[in-house]
Amino acid sequence: IKCIGILTSGGDAPGMNAAIRAVTRSAIYNGFAVKGIMRGYKGLVFNEIVSFKSQSVSNIIQLGGTILKTARSQEFTTTEGRKAAYDNMVAAGIDALVVIGGDGSLTGAGIFAEEYNVPIVGLPGTIDNDLGGTDSTIGYDTALNTIVEAVDKLRDTASSHERLFFVEVMGHTAGYLAMNSAIATGSEAAIIPEMETEVDQLAELINHGFRKSKNSAIVIVAENPKTGGATALAERVKKEFPQYDARVTILGHIQRGGSPTAVDRILASRMGEAAIEALLDGQRNVMIGTMNGKIVYVPFAKAVKHDKGIDRKDLELVKILSI
Ligand code: F6P
Repeated sequence: IKCIGILTSGGDAPGMNAAIRAVTRSAIYNGFAVKGIMRGYKGLVFNEIVSFKSQSVSNIIQLGGTILKTARSQEFTTTEGRKAAYDNMVAAGIDALVVIGGDGSLTGAGIFAEEYNVPIVGLPGTIDNDLGGTDSTIGYDTALNTIVEAVDKLRDTASSHERLFFVEVMGHTAGYLAMNSAIATGSEAAIIPEMETEVDQLAELINHGFRKSKNSAIVIVAENPKTGGATALAERVKKEFPQYDARVTILGHIQRGGSPTAVDRILASRMGEAAIEALLDGQRNVMIGTMNGKIVYVPFAKAVKHDKGIDRKDLELVKILSI
């Protein structure tokens, strides 16, 4: 390997820039050339590739978003698109890739790596924390803190007006952001996709009598296109329990922005360096993860399975602490 290409793909996540910096500087430190690929896989397909030097990543560790831009590329899902991507990669002299992104991006990486025998190392870059084989993903901690800050503010108005607030947070199909922001904000409940097939969480919540001892309540709801998320829940409450003065706040894309926390900067820096070490080690088609604080290599197929599961004890914790 002589030249490493870096790209960020899928939804952006705070800490992606810190990861780009770490990959670039570690690669240069080890004698590799580095090329930045703009707009994720789209930039490979449409040949938007720029040479990177150490200074290309100066002053970015503290920035949210991604200086490489990002996209969800439709073209790369086709065999013709991937062929164009491969041809451009070879023409640019790139012989290995570091892909920073979530499950869609790593799934694409796995397919591309197999089709063209390209060495690829992935970094888990997503606020959702929905990748297997790693305790946390880059961006998750920052998003969690953004939610906590917003919910603390909502708590003020909820308690002044004695209202029930449904706060919708992101998470794709996973409930980590909802679960842990509920714990961190002392919310009355978390409604997460992992649980909904087992129980009617709204009925359980109401039966639990969360309003008996309190005049206001905050329920964190994970986004869920299948059930309609917080909006649908609030509609149900308005119909079935008109005595509650319910409101909905959808936090939306604000959760994806902002300066990364120290935790995310450190995670991204460690993982970025580990990606280059992995390539030097002859590792192929693995995502860098951390387990109990130690760097681990996770095969793409396992990473995208999202089999971490939610600890039922955490849901129980929210319930116990909100009596
Ligand atoms: O995967 C990150 C994420 O922010 C999810 O939490 C959310 O479902 C999705 O991306 C939103 O995607 P878009 O950028 O297309 O609005």
